[in-house]
Amino acid sequence: MKLSDNKATLSFSNGAPSMELPVYSGTLGPDVIDIRKLYGQTDMFTYDPGFLSTASCQSSITYIDGDKGELLYRGYPIEELAQKKDYLDVCYLILNGELPDAAQKADFDLQVNRHNMVHEQMHFFLRGFRRDAHPMAILTGLVGAMSAFYHDSTDITDPTHRHISAIRLIAKMPTMVAMAYKYTKGQPFIYPRNDLSYAGNFLRMMFATPCEDYEVNPVLERAMDRIFTLHADHEQNASTSTVRLCGSSGTNPFAAIAAGVACLWGPAHGGANEACLHMLEDLQANGGVAKVGEFMEKVKDRNSGVRLMGFGHRVYKNYDPRAKLMQETTKEVLAALGLENDPLFKLAMELERIALEDQYFVDRKLYPNVDFYSGIVQRAIGVPNELFTAIFALARTVGWIAQWNEMISDPEYKIGRPRQLYVGEGVRHIK
Ligand code: SDX
Repeated sequence: MKLSDNKATLSFSNGAPSMELPVYSGTLGPDVIDIRKLYGQTDMFTYDPGFLSTASCQSSITYIDGDKGELLYRGYPIEELAQKKDYLDVCYLILNGELPDAAQKADFDLQVNRHNMVHEQMHFFLRGFRRDAHPMAILTGLVGAMSAFYHDSTDITDPTHRHISAIRLIAKMPTMVAMAYKYTKGQPFIYPRNDLSYAGNFLRMMFATPCEDYEVNPVLERAMDRIFTLHADHEQNASTSTVRLCGSSGTNPFAAIAAGVACLWGPAHGGANEACLHMLEDLQANGGVAKVGEFMEKVKDRNSGVRLMGFGHRVYKNYDPRAKLMQETTKEVLAALGLENDPLFKLAMELERIALEDQYFVDRKLYPNVDFYSGIVQRAIGVPNELFTAIFALARTVGWIAQWNEMISDPEYKIGRPRQLYVGEGVRHIK
C-alpha cells in the first residue's frame, strides 16, 4: 500500500485538538484512513458494527468491485479462470500469486493427490456422530480433529509447515466431505483414487459403492470443478475474517479453518445455498410459479421475517459475477441430464426475473448471489441439500488457508482484539 497525498483531518466541536490521519491507497478499490493512532491520541474508538466501513487488513489475494460486479483472484477475472483453468490451477494461483506452468501444475497435482487420504483413526472419530448429524457438524469436527494428527508440522512460523498444512487441508476436504455424506447414508466410505481429477475423485467418493463403481460424467466433473473455483475465495467475508481472527492468536491452521467452517454454516452466509433450495422446494410444493407474487409480497414485508435466500450481498450492489457463471453451469448440467424443464430452475428464473424488475429489490440493489443457483445445479448432480454448504467449505478452504498464510507471514501481524462502546451498568456494589 502507498501513502496518498490526501490526508484526513479529524476535528471536534468540543475544542479537543484536531488530528491528521494518513490516507493509504491500494492497487484497486477505496483508499483507507489509517486510524491506528486514533485511540492513543484521542482516547476514542471508531464504531462500526458489522464492519461496513472497515478494512481489517491489507491483502493481495482477492479483489471485489461491488458496484461493477467484478471479482478478481490475484488480478485474474473470475470469468476467465472459470472458463480456462481448473480448480487446482486456481488453488495454486491463490496460494502462490501466479498461475502454475505445466511442471508446477503437475507437481502441485501430485502433492494434493498424495495427501487425499485421511488417517484411518478419523473413521473411528466420525463414527461417534449420530447418522442424522448435519454434515457441517461433522465437518467442523473432522477439520478441528486434523490438529490431533499432524504433530510434524505445528510450527506456524515455518513456511514449510504452513505449506504442508495447506496441502493437507485442500487434499483432504473432498475426502472428509464425502465421508460425512456416506456416513449419513449408512454406506461405507470410498477411498480416493489418484488417477482421477480433483473433482472427479470427489464425485466418485460421493456416489460409488463397493458394489458398483461410479463412471465420472465429464460434464458433471467440469461443473463440480467450476463450482469449486467460483467459491474459492472472496476477500474478507465473515468466515475468512473468522479464520484470520482465530488464527491471529497463533493457534494451528486446522483449528482456524474449523472456525471458518463453523461460521460459514450460518444461513446469512454459506448456509444460504441450502436455505435457498428449501425455499424453492417449499414454494414449488405450495403453488410454484403461480404463487410467486404472493411469496414476494412476504419477502418485501420486513415484519414477515422472510428473505429471498440467495439474493442480496454486503458488497455486491450489482449482479454477483459468480451467480451468472453458476446459472450457465446449471443450464449445461440440466441439458446434459435431460432436465431442461427442471421446475425448480424455472421457478428460480421466474423469481429472479420478477425481483430484478421490482422496485423493492431495485432500490436496495439486491441481485442474485453465488448461492441462488448453486443448490439447483448440485441437486441435479445428486448432491443432497444439507451437503451444499459442506461443498462450499471444501472449495473455500484454499481461500481461508491462503488468507491465514498471508496474515501469519506478515511481520506486522498481531492478535486481533476489537474494543467496544460499553453501555452497561456503571460501577455498583453488592449491598
Ligand atoms: C455469501 O460476504 C461475502 O462475500 C459472502 C459470500 C462469500 O463468497 O463469502 O459472498 C457468500 O454469504 C453470499 C450471501 C448469502 N446470503 C443470502 O443469500 C441470505 C439472504 N441475503 C441476506 O440476508 C442479505 O442480503 C445479506 C446477509 C447477504 C447481506 O445483508 P446486509 O448487507 O447486512 O444487508 P441488510 O440485511 O442490511 O439488507 C439491506 C436491506 C434491508 O431492507 P431495509 O431494512 O433497508 O428495508 O435489504 C433487505 C433488508 O431487509 N434485504 C433483503 C434481502 N437481503 C437484504 N430483503 C429480502 N431478501 C433478501 N435476500
